[in-house]
Amino acid sequence: MEIIRTIPELRARLSSEDQVCCVPTMGNIHDGHLSLVRIGKERAPIVVTTIFVNRLQFGKSDDFSRYPRTFEDDCGKLESLGNDIVFCPNEDEMYPEPQVFFIDPPKIANGLEGRFRPGHFRGVCTVVTKLFNAVQPQMAVFGKKDYQQLAIIRELTEQLSLPIEIVPAETVLSDDGLALSSRNRFLNESERSEAPRLRDTMIQIRDAILGGDRKYVAMEYAAGARLARYGWNVDYVVIRAQKGLRRPAEDEVKLVVLGAATLGATRLIDNLEINVE
Ligand code: PAJ
Repeated sequence: MEIIRTIPELRARLSSEDQVCCVPTMGNIHDGHLSLVRIGKERAPIVVTTIFVNRLQFGKSDDFSRYPRTFEDDCGKLESLGNDIVFCPNEDEMYPEPQVFFIDPPKIANGLEGRFRPGHFRGVCTVVTKLFNAVQPQMAVFGKKDYQQLAIIRELTEQLSLPIEIVPAETVLSDDGLALSSRNRFLNESERSEAPRLRDTMIQIRDAILGGDRKYVAMEYAAGARLARYGWNVDYVVIRAQKGLRRPAEDEVKLVVLGAATLGATRLIDNLEINVE
């Protein structure tokens, strides 16, 4: 596996490749990230996984400096899966000068995560555009775990006419149903055993909807209240249309429930698609 740290070296290496798949990450690689690499390997001869902890997407209260950096470990995992190239630029390579041009995402970025993490998606869109320019891939894999991010990146590539296919990947869960995340390591033992309730609550909503319930607002409220009873600090649990993440019509068939809530000091997000037959 090759490790490349600069954009000129990456461009030189990839100049003769015509099928490159990019997997953008911030490192601290777990099985969720690895599933993205696996999908990349099925679709393209060259998979470039990028590892860059992007300062621009962290708010003042999210701790950029506390983000786990586990480069050696990450490379071991990626290599064992057959990942071809790790692109791991340092801060100076990505931001040689303070970034003053930004990709400002549209309305879809204002709600949900955007509401609780102002500026987050502006930072994500800006770095992903820069990474796309560095790698110039034909396709890129993004996890449904970050559902709103995936939706925004799809819109971004479409609106900016980037010739990149965005490939979605299903969320990878631990055995007890907690979505894998770099943040899970911050949960203490009792929080860790409570954490699967977030998804569990979404499964209850899915079952209710599949059973014919359409009282979305009441279901959202009940879900939030349930989590609060178990000690969660709930930012939102909402039911949206998959497309555009707008409020759903009553007869909407492609739905998704999205949630974000904090347990102790750790904020978790998850979502669940609901396809009504
Ligand atoms: P990061 O949180 O490292 O996630 C990298 C990719 O892995 C994202 O596409 C994310 O959705 C996916 N992922 C995370 N957990 C997953 C899981 N349990 N199952 C499946 N996929 C999962 O998302 C980012 O980094 C950054 O915002 C980035 C796009 C790299 C821009 O900085």
